[in-house]
Amino acid sequence: MRIEVNGRSHEEEPRPGQCLRTYLRERGWFGVKKGCDAGDCGACTVHVDGEPVHSCLYPAFRADGRAVTTVEGLASPEGELHPVQQRFLDAQGFQCGFCTAGFLMTTAALDEEKLADLPRALKGNLCRCTGYRAIEDAIRGVRHVEEPAPGESVGRNLPAPAGPQVVTGTARYTFDVDVPGLLHMKLLRSPHAHARITAVDTAAALRVPGVHAVFTHYDAPDRHYSTARHENPDDDPDDTRVLDDTVRHIGQRVAAVVADSEGAAEEGCRRIEVAYEVLPAVLDPEEAMRPGAPVVHDKDAATARIARPRDNVVGEAHGEIGDVEAGFAEADAVYEETFHTQRVQHASLETHGAVGWLDEDGRLTLRTSSQTPFLTRRALCALYDLPLDKVRVMTGRVGGGFGGKQEMLVEDVVALAVLRLGRPVKLEYTRPEQFFGATTRHPFAVRVKAGARRDGTLTALQMRVVSNTGAYGNHGPGVMFHGIGESMAVYRAPHKKVDAFAVYTHTVPAGAFRGYGLSQTLFAVESALDELARRLRLDPLEFKARNIIGPDEGMHAPGGHDDDLHVASYGLDQCLDIVRGARSEPSPPAPEGWLVGQGAALAAIATAPPGGHFADVRVALLADGTYDLAVGTSEFGNGTTTVHRQIAAGELGTTVDRIAVRQSDTDVVRHDTGAFASTGTVVAGKATLRAARALADTLLDFAAARLRVRRAECRLVEDAVVHPGGRLALKELFAAASAVTVELAADGSFGGTPRSVAFNAHWFQVAVDPGTGEMRILRSVHAADAGQVMNPMQCRGQVEGGVAQALGATLFENVRIDGRGAVDTAAFRRYRLPQFADVPRTEVHFMKTTDTIGPLGAKSMSESPFNPVAPAFAAALRDATGTRFTELPLTRDRVWLALDRSGDEAGGGQGQPG
Ligand code: FES
Repeated sequence: MRIEVNGRSHEEEPRPGQCLRTYLRERGWFGVKKGCDAGDCGACTVHVDGEPVHSCLYPAFRADGRAVTTVEGLASPEGELHPVQQRFLDAQGFQCGFCTAGFLMTTAALDEEKLADLPRALKGNLCRCTGYRAIEDAIRGVRHVEEPAPGESVGRNLPAPAGPQVVTGTARYTFDVDVPGLLHMKLLRSPHAHARITAVDTAAALRVPGVHAVFTHYDAPDRHYSTARHENPDDDPDDTRVLDDTVRHIGQRVAAVVADSEGAAEEGCRRIEVAYEVLPAVLDPEEAMRPGAPVVHDKDAATARIARPRDNVVGEAHGEIGDVEAGFAEADAVYEETFHTQRVQHASLETHGAVGWLDEDGRLTLRTSSQTPFLTRRALCALYDLPLDKVRVMTGRVGGGFGGKQEMLVEDVVALAVLRLGRPVKLEYTRPEQFFGATTRHPFAVRVKAGARRDGTLTALQMRVVSNTGAYGNHGPGVMFHGIGESMAVYRAPHKKVDAFAVYTHTVPAGAFRGYGLSQTLFAVESALDELARRLRLDPLEFKARNIIGPDEGMHAPGGHDDDLHVASYGLDQCLDIVRGARSEPSPPAPEGWLVGQGAALAAIATAPPGGHFADVRVALLADGTYDLAVGTSEFGNGTTTVHRQIAAGELGTTVDRIAVRQSDTDVVRHDTGAFASTGTVVAGKATLRAARALADTLLDFAAARLRVRRAECRLVEDAVVHPGGRLALKELFAAASAVTVELAADGSFGGTPRSVAFNAHWFQVAVDPGTGEMRILRSVHAADAGQVMNPMQCRGQVEGGVAQALGATLFENVRIDGRGAVDTAAFRRYRLPQFADVPRTEVHFMKTTDTIGPLGAKSMSESPFNPVAPAFAAALRDATGTRFTELPLTRDRVWLALDRSGDEAGGGQGQPG
């Protein structure tokens, strides 16, 4: 057997059944990524004799005698980049970059004919971050990056510093490390939605050759914690154990097997014998709150921080501003409806996982795919009684997060194994495990009641929210509180009321996800106001414009957390002007006989979470004249590394190439809450600004002092020449000057408060085939108030990516749970992600505002573009069909069924035949 890989010969026989992907990675070709191991995502694409193949499906033995090219071999032997690699750099056709090698390999093999039909040519490659438009620009040769002069980096299209590594396959993600003596962990998971483990027999598993250990609840600390990571650990209930003697959802961990290979660990899992006492389960949150329902967590409310354990309510909020009943009595029209949103999976292409070991000082060290390394270290120390300096947590480049990695889902059990065995251990989730062993977006049921006078004045707004947090309460209360906040606070109705519940069920846990509750409530509130306006025969956009808060008004919602929230810049009026402009333009053509409609929705979001979000940064001038910038926050495609370099370069009057960033390692700075809630720019960026500004001041003082010394030197040299006695003074001066030492480094910190508000609006024009329910987006326009846009290319990418992800959630993504409580969409083939062909180009507009809180006037813009998409699409669909859709996703089947039922009446709505 002989395979030539990038010109290098490999003669080792593959294992029976081994695929080419693992064969290549085991030989150090880490540019070949694992996204699904099922041939669905294309992250593992390589060339075999020049033909692109998904190496996860390609048997390694079939490559015998063939030439394999991975992304590492795409450049010339002299190091000259392949034209496709250069174009991906010029357009920055990536964010996290985990999919990039696959796209490069696919694109490099396309001929002119195939390049002309990119939706077809790229149907085998998925990207979860970019929304594909930056990829299309890259393939088409569009150049976005700029090279500004020193000190002029802010507001310019600076490229990501890791770009050259991303396009050559040398960027190192979590698992792209070769750790000698590495053991592999696999997890046995529960087949029951609710059961008590009465016995576990591990003897047969331990007899499997290569198995080193089996861990069960007998080995786990008898401590409860939350997998959610927050600055304040009290934000989440303590309801989780590393390994528990009760299982509360299908897919929960039961045992961990550690072995020499993944295969041996899997075999060990199969040999474990577990006896369960199966218990009644509850899958629906409304049923879970009824008297007599099975209790998910029978714990003490106060110590576990669960609002009402016996009622399965983990968190609740109730509040009223004014008198909502009086407000409805004043109204000429009242609209009331219940809206439902579904479970959505983050689907970051890099799965969850960690590699752990003890370093030479015996310190527990974890390299993990995390958005919160510092908070993870803190949790591990509490769990295993370790001092902070005995644990180090760091990340490589992280392959996407979207909030899903604001959890400790793997580090706890990897740490247990490393501490017990003293050996390096790796746990890497499979794609199916991402669906039943990680988290999802919280499904919400939102009953909205809204009343308004005939003149368009909103008199009252009321919501009842039931959020299904699944089997564990990680982020349950937080997502609920955020959901009821800005969605109501952006409207100035005098009377508002909220009742909200985050409820346990025996289903896969929900968690943090882009938008953090707002996308769910906004679908309900924006849709309800759109409908109310139509019933009053008012223009929905102008109705909303009449009732939004102004620039000098506060953001207030009943039951919300708004004490430190300020509208420190206001671009919502500009956002609405963008929508007005878009809809006044001529309509693109729609197929004959199709219904055409347009609709808009708006959104507001706080620029940081409540309760504080902390970042420390240190910047130092090095002897070679370059700068070392140490930040805690992770880079997972959010672009913060680029922005931090831009901020520092601007303050220090230099160019970004002179600033090297070290980040996301508990060894490099004192603390960082984490890269979530869009805080990478507004919190960590502000700490960078402060550090760079302090260092710039120090350098100016130092330069002035040196100048003074130099002038004095000159005078004394003159004196010494003229007056020999002056030599004594000269000596003294030199001695004094050499005693002056200056620390050419500075620290900066920010605590994330006060907070400002970012605004977004989205507008769609859609066409619907009344005969089939097929929908087409004719135009998609997004207005984003991000304050001072630090890097337009990157910020546009965040908007395009957020819109694309939201379109998936609007139109087809759905983590389905079957009647037993099992996830039945645990593969990309059953859980459809937006492909290149599904995502239209969105016209992105940035508003002209400067925030008085954010660094250099910037605001957050990572998660908010997601939020207005579903209600805007639903509004356009209502306009086209006359039917108000109240449940996501808006699948073609669902639309067709609704149109079929309503018959002529639906077709006779406000929509116009195209
Ligand atoms: Fe494509 Fe992250 S850049 S998956």
